Amino acid sequence: MKVLGIESSCDETASAVVENGRFILSNVVNSQIDLHTIYGGVIPEIAARSHIEVINPVINQALAEARLTWQDIDAIAVSYAPGLIGSLLIGTLAARTLAIIKNKPLYPVHHVEAHVYANFLSVNNESEPQFPILALIVSGGHSQLMLFKNHGDFEMLGQTQDDAIGEAFDKVAKIIGLPYPGGPSISQAAQNGNASAYQFPMARMQNPYDFSFSGLKTAVLRAVQREANVDINFPSTDLAERLTDTQRANFAASFQSIAVETLVNRTLLAYQNFHPKSVIIAGGVAANQALRQKLTATIPITVKYPPINLCTDNAAMIASLGYYRSLSNSPFDPYQLEVEPSLSMSKR
Ligand code: KG4
Ligand code: ZN
Repeated sequence: MKVLGIESSCDETASAVVENGRFILSNVVNSQIDLHTIYGGVIPEIAARSHIEVINPVINQALAEARLTWQDIDAIAVSYAPGLIGSLLIGTLAARTLAIIKNKPLYPVHHVEAHVYANFLSVNNESEPQFPILALIVSGGHSQLMLFKNHGDFEMLGQTQDDAIGEAFDKVAKIIGLPYPGGPSISQAAQNGNASAYQFPMARMQNPYDFSFSGLKTAVLRAVQREANVDINFPSTDLAERLTDTQRANFAASFQSIAVETLVNRTLLAYQNFHPKSVIIAGGVAANQALRQKLTATIPITVKYPPINLCTDNAAMIASLGYYRSLSNSPFDPYQLEVEPSLSMSKR
């Protein structure tokens, strides 16, 4: 079964064709990073306009690269939640329209759940994850630990109570003067830094699987203000230029180290208590090498993670989840589908 996936929840316009949930026939991603870098973050209005411009060419390219026509496509999957409303609307409207005019079954999927399915995509013909799966989902908008008993049957063990981890990487990068997106630029700068240069606190939570990163971000801000010899009213936008490259690298390394330790601690505890058959990481922050290394060294079984281009937003993961959804669910009425910008993971 060949599913065409469509993704437009944030700042990537993407389309892909995946066979039987596992085999990528094409995977096209049009990133808007260049458009947003000058603002230091995603501007929703600009994101939506860019999606409109490229959505049709991106879908056509996904078909062309797979060497397929609409006749060969068995179903359409689209991320309808969560995300930026203007962005979600473009992909969802495209999917609804195509489902109607090409007469294809439509499977709306949850973007965060779909990140997990990047681990079901076959890259080197490796086997798929085995249930129960412990999934650490870490992206720009989400940080959560989930236990999947089966496809569509999952339990939220813990989640962030404030900022997502990717958001913390992006905000800290801004404070210390590294380019957007902060994740890759912090991990690169951290390679030349001393992770013990600054001591940051790890938040203690009532639910041991929950996260909190906003205190850590503020702790970094205060430490940067101290190093720069300014008080807390000094404009944070002018702070970065007062740091040396060495200080910048040390902040990047110290922040990354405590952020990674927090994620690894929670995941290890969940592993010990729930005995999953597979442990996987997913989402943009799963691209982080320090996280991959520390998790691999700490968890007794193999930790599975996707290649970097499948960690960040893409439509292959959407098509994969759409396929597994189609095995147990009826297609959704394309006339009834609405976007749900702040929906947490649910069992549609
Ligand atoms: O999953 P994603 O592409 O979009 C969302 O659904 O949010 O994740 C984007 C996030 C950004 O916050 C970015 O800074 C982070 O993933 N990221 C990383 C790395 N690469 C991307 N964070 C840490 N280390 C990286 N290497
Ligand atoms: Zn994402």
